[in-house]
Amino acid sequence: MSNVTTKVFPTKQEAVSLVADQIETLIRDRAAAGKKAILGLATGSTPVALYQELIRRHKEKGLSFKNVVSFNLDEYYGLPGTHDQSYRYFMNQQLFDHVDINKADTHVPNGTVAEDKVDAECVAYEAAIKAAGGIDIQILGIGRTGHIGFNEPPAGPATRTRKVHLDELTRKDNSVFFGDISKVPHYAITMGVGTILDAHRVVLLAWGEAKADIIRRTLKDTPSDSCPASWLQQHKDCLFVLDQAAAAKI
Ligand code: F6R
Repeated sequence: MSNVTTKVFPTKQEAVSLVADQIETLIRDRAAAGKKAILGLATGSTPVALYQELIRRHKEKGLSFKNVVSFNLDEYYGLPGTHDQSYRYFMNQQLFDHVDINKADTHVPNGTVAEDKVDAECVAYEAAIKAAGGIDIQILGIGRTGHIGFNEPPAGPATRTRKVHLDELTRKDNSVFFGDISKVPHYAITMGVGTILDAHRVVLLAWGEAKADIIRRTLKDTPSDSCPASWLQQHKDCLFVLDQAAAAKI
């Protein structure tokens, strides 16, 4: 049986407001207690509206990110943080450069680590999450393959941070950002499904009709490695925040 709570909103603007509320509450409660808030962050088109809302709250409501520590889900293998399609670059542009977060507290897997150092980099990433006390809120998007992070099928709860091969459908979907599919890397470093399931709370966002089929499979099918996101059904505190188009088939 699925533990997932699903909330459907007429527009993504209303949807991101609810998620921003949860993040703001976490950050402010922790700040009042003199503690850090640990956020797991995603890239891609889905969370952009959420990041805009968080920036607005920083600028207009004085929401400070000084006590925030962040861990991103993934990074393209081979792209340096200065590349305009790297996820480090994306995070700086879409969020970090517009709030008062300490850049040293923002973590994105290193996509330029040498082949023979990839395993050590991945182990260190997992250790850094643990040392921070684990992720309080993990924000996710979902790919049409059923991936969360870059965990393409087959992938399940035993997977941890590692180098992965990207599905051709994912490369095609992401080619809109690169301009040409030949420029989209074939590999990435991603947190595993198991890493994601360790987060204390998971919030998955999905907008638009292109996501309706995979949202149905994720929520309705028996969890299996053929739809990595379906393992979220077993998480104790998982919320799906959808617009009406993404929820149309559930
Ligand atoms: C991004 C990530 C991916 C995306 C997914 C959806 O860090 O891990 O799982 O969330 O590919 O991408 P968009 O939001 O562009 O549809």
